Amino acid sequence: MSNIILIGFMGSGKSTIAELLAQKTGKELVDLDAEITKAIGMPITEYFATKGEAAFREIESLKLAEGLKSDAIVATGGGIVVAEANRQLLGQHPTVVYLQTDPQVLVQRIREDQLNQRPLADEKSDEEIIQLFMSRIHHYEASATLSIDTTDKAPSVVVAEILERLAMV
Ligand code: S3P
Repeated sequence: MSNIILIGFMGSGKSTIAELLAQKTGKELVDLDAEITKAIGMPITEYFATKGEAAFREIESLKLAEGLKSDAIVATGGGIVVAEANRQLLGQHPTVVYLQTDPQVLVQRIREDQLNQRPLADEKSDEEIIQLFMSRIHHYEASATLSIDTTDKAPSVVVAEILERLAMV
C-alpha cells in the first residue's frame, strides 16, 4: 500500500483524520501545513500578510512533491488543488481521499476552530467562504479516487470508513 493523501476544504478535518489514520495504520504522518510552517519559520497567516499568497503556494507545491515521496498519511492544505501542477502530481497517486463536508458545516467548524488561523477565511463573510469552496469543489472531486462524507460524523467513524473502503481493516 502506498501513501494515503487527504484533500478537502478548510474545516473538513484533514489534519485530525490524518493523525488518527497514522495511529491506526502505523504509517508516518506528513501534515503539509505543519511542514510549511516549519520551513517558513512563522505562522501561515503572517507569511500571507508579508510575502503574499503566491509565495505561499510555491512552498506548498514544493512540500507536496516532497511529502508524496514518502509512504505516509499526507494531510494537505485546502488550497492544494488550485495549482494544476499539484493536481497532476495528485493524479499520479492511487489513494487520494476527498473529505466531503456540507458548506454550512465547514463554515461553522472554521469559525469554532480557535487553534488554526486561516488567512483565506478569517476576514471573510460566510458567503465568501462558501463561494471559495464552490470555486474549488470540482477540483476536489476530480482529484479524488475516493470520497467520504464527514458532515455528521465523528473523526473515528470517518477513519473507520476510509480504512474499510480501502480494505485495510
Ligand atoms: C488554505 C488552507 C489552509 C492553509 C492556508 C490556505 C486554503 O489549510 O494551507 O491557510 O487555501 O484553503 P487547511 O485546509 O488545513 O485549513
